[in-house]
Amino acid sequence: MSGLAYCFGWVLATTRCNDPPCKLDCSCSVHNNALCCKRLHDTGRTEFMDGFIANTQRSLHENLAVEAQGLVKHFATNRAVEGVDLAVPTGAIYGVLGPNGAGKTTTIRMLATLLRPDAGFARIFGHDVVREPQVVRQLIGVTGQYASVDETLSAMENLVLFGRLLGFSHADARRKAQDLLEEFDLMDAAKRPLKKFSGGMRRRLDLAASLIAQPPLIFLDEPTTGLDPRTRSQMWDTIRRLVKTGSTVLLTTQYLDEADQLADRVAVIDRGKVIAEGTVDELKASVGTSSLHLRVENSEDILKVCQLVQRTLRVEASFSANTGKITAPMAKADRVTDLLIALRQEGVALAEVSVQKPTLDEVFLTITGHGVEDGDTTPETDLIEVGGVKA
Ligand SMILES: Nc1ncnc2c1ncn2[C@@H]1O[C@H](COP(=O)(O)OP(=O)(O)OP(=O)(O)O)[C@@H](O)[C@H]1O
Ligand SMILES: [Mg+2]
Repeated sequence: MSGLAYCFGWVLATTRCNDPPCKLDCSCSVHNNALCCKRLHDTGRTEFMDGFIANTQRSLHENLAVEAQGLVKHFATNRAVEGVDLAVPTGAIYGVLGPNGAGKTTTIRMLATLLRPDAGFARIFGHDVVREPQVVRQLIGVTGQYASVDETLSAMENLVLFGRLLGFSHADARRKAQDLLEEFDLMDAAKRPLKKFSGGMRRRLDLAASLIAQPPLIFLDEPTTGLDPRTRSQMWDTIRRLVKTGSTVLLTTQYLDEADQLADRVAVIDRGKVIAEGTVDELKASVGTSSLHLRVENSEDILKVCQLVQRTLRVEASFSANTGKITAPMAKADRVTDLLIALRQEGVALAEVSVQKPTLDEVFLTITGHGVEDGDTTPETDLIEVGGVKA
């Protein structure tokens, strides 16, 4: 039996030790955990076993790049993170989604050993962030929400500096810098000081810097905030490539379509708590299989349309003042015909109508009662109550 398998057997046996006959390989006649363990102590095997147990426990976590339970961080009276649980499988792109101030950056800072949790624990590939910060730091790369590159140096100089700090020889650091500048489409600007860079170029360089030694786990805090659509899609390709070449990525975003495009699984976080977790499709399914979107020609018709939706489709309709749209979950897309006939009979003129898969925006609205853009606004500011129907 290999050491690991033996250890597994031993751990399982320990948990069954109270049921006679004793399964521990210690020849003891007393079926009691503590006594059996003491006997193992006496025979000088405990250290050996402790090592095995630690490795086994670690191996149990090895398929998780990140495991966090009950993480808490308060800043004076500000309850920034209020008991966050996360389980990020190795090799995944995992999205942490939430509005401004939800606690995303604070969570990442605790996972990346930059901030000590007030409570709870977190392990990176089985290594505790508080007890083994040095090991954890060798396994991660962090690209923060704000670029951490040096303004006075050129792009090439910045990357070479990071490479040297990571222990690369000058030649290797230059070679790596050159590769990354090409990958991130920054060759033309390689010798320009950063103060002449656009925001998007800075973010690309910042990400490039965290990839010099491509670590097994990469934290990206809002990697595409402020990027134009073309650069954003380039960044998405880079993130996908990172995962294809063996890394795990945990990214935070306020962009629901970004999580939709990239993430295998998503945790939705609001006011310091995970309020939903699953694949993007699972989250979308929580608001119905299809989603109806209507825009009326005449704003006086909004109320009437919401009531008609409720009467015809037997579901709650929501009106968002931000988008000017009435939306409703639908179990069957073909029920829309009944609604259109009813609207025609009531003389309601529609500017737009569509039935589509629910967006993550709708998921967020359904789960939190407020839109992702609304941040701290209460539901009442965006939703009007219409006779039991949120409209
Ligand atoms: N160092 C700090 N001192 C005091 N309060 C802090 C500190 N860092 C964060 N906070 C507060 O904790 C809460 C969560 O902040 P955090 O930066 O984690 O949110 P976020 O989800 O990353 O938001 P954003 O989308 O704006 O980046 C906010 O209310 C913020 O003001
Ligand atoms: Mg943040």
